[in-house]
Amino acid sequence: MTPVRVLAVASEVYPIVKTGGLADVAGALPTALKAHGIEMRTLMPGYPDVIRLLSGAEELRSWPDYFGGPGRLLAGSRDGLDLFVLDVPHLYARPGNPYVTAEGVDWPDNGVRFAALARVAADIGHGLVPAFVPDVVHAHDWQAGLAPAYLHYDGRPRPGTVMTIHNMAYQGKFDRTLAGAVGLPRDAAFDVHGLEYFGGISFLKAGLQFADRITTVSPTYAHEIQSDEGGMGLGGLLRERSSVLSGILNGIDVDVWNPQTDPHIAYRFSTQDIAFRAANKAVLQQQFNLDSSDEAPLLGVISRLSWQKGLDLLLEAIPTILDQGMQLALLGSGERDLQDRYQAVARANPGRIGVLIGYDEILAHLIQAGSDALLVPSRFEPCGLTQLCALRYGAVPIVSRVGGLEDTIVDIGEAGRDATGFKFGPVTADALAGTLRKANAAFHDKATWRRLQLSGLATDVSWRNRAGEYAALYRGLMASRRM
Ligand code: ADP
Ligand code: GLC
Repeated sequence: MTPVRVLAVASEVYPIVKTGGLADVAGALPTALKAHGIEMRTLMPGYPDVIRLLSGAEELRSWPDYFGGPGRLLAGSRDGLDLFVLDVPHLYARPGNPYVTAEGVDWPDNGVRFAALARVAADIGHGLVPAFVPDVVHAHDWQAGLAPAYLHYDGRPRPGTVMTIHNMAYQGKFDRTLAGAVGLPRDAAFDVHGLEYFGGISFLKAGLQFADRITTVSPTYAHEIQSDEGGMGLGGLLRERSSVLSGILNGIDVDVWNPQTDPHIAYRFSTQDIAFRAANKAVLQQQFNLDSSDEAPLLGVISRLSWQKGLDLLLEAIPTILDQGMQLALLGSGERDLQDRYQAVARANPGRIGVLIGYDEILAHLIQAGSDALLVPSRFEPCGLTQLCALRYGAVPIVSRVGGLEDTIVDIGEAGRDATGFKFGPVTADALAGTLRKANAAFHDKATWRRLQLSGLATDVSWRNRAGEYAALYRGLMASRRM
């Protein structure tokens, strides 16, 4: 196998900076790809945490004026990842979340911040770092979307390009004047076959327009985004480019998520001693101020609180949870209105509904280890990772029938395959409530429930095979460009 060099471009990478599943994927894929002969390095912005963690990094280049201030390109390794870091303090040296201010609004210069990242990605593609000249540049989400566009408009020999969509809802839309300001052809901003998007420009569209290959994170989502509704404005473009679009499921890092060795859970367990989950459930109930009861099915949620995740529908289904004698432990943060409504429901139902607003990795592990079922009632879900962790921890997933949830969970009613959970559709509060009742009945039938748990534990949720699909994609792309 000829080794292949791939430059991944991502705005967040676990365990260094994470706001969602993109970071998990960007953090796990390079290691998983090694076994397939792919040498991947990852370019990310130099947020304060990154600069702090890479204190010994080597300076490869420096510029007195990079998009309006001094900048440097650094190289370093951390947590098994080989990183390029774009250190441009006037763009990235800001506290907190990578995308928004403390008040939760987008940084006004996000367009320039992520154009700068894509520009250096394209330059690395052209050979800026002689020790690492990539065969393929792989851009993740809108923050990296201009990389294939720069490589295209530069009009020079270039590496192959791949654009991966983790979420169609975030499109990186900006005023069209930005194009010229960040060194792209001004007329490209007026060209529907260029960057133009509903009178402005879109970084995601740019990536989808110019990448040689487009992937998204599940086969079902690859299909859904070709519709007008699922495409969220880009369905037509994706239909046109469907011959280069494919879905590759995400995996999870099975070392980070391993119930046999997990340092964050109260009692470790394996398939043989799955009954130890009861001890984790007891600790979880304590942490969420829930009544201690082994008999009450405990539903867990670990989620961003946003329209996508359908958690407003779960609020409507709270009466069913209460009627059925179930409990709910929800960990999440996001939209203020949802946070307030969940906190109010918890106050009104002490012992039955527990809510913690915030982002807490350790608690996320305990929820997976201690809840009986994990709920993911999303309106759309490109892949979803929490249901994969749930399978690995013996929490039975209850999910909506969309995107990657459809592809990764086998419903109890599906013939011919070992069921691992419950799927409901259409994505409505009624359908969710009906499925909660069904799950409750199954929970009280101990043999059925154990069968679901064991099938989940036996499911391969690792990156092993999925990384192989990316490796084949890179190799296929290189072969087609040689022809
Ligand atoms: P998305 O990327 O759309 O938010 P995913 O399911 O792909 O959804 O990934 C979410 C990741 O973030 C998972 O690793 C999940 O455990 C984690 N996560 C989400 N919310 C929280 C939270 N409040 N606390 C800790 N981890 C969280
Ligand atoms: C996005 C999606 C989620 C997916 C993750 C990683 O944030 O919302 O479904 O699992 O990216 O690909």
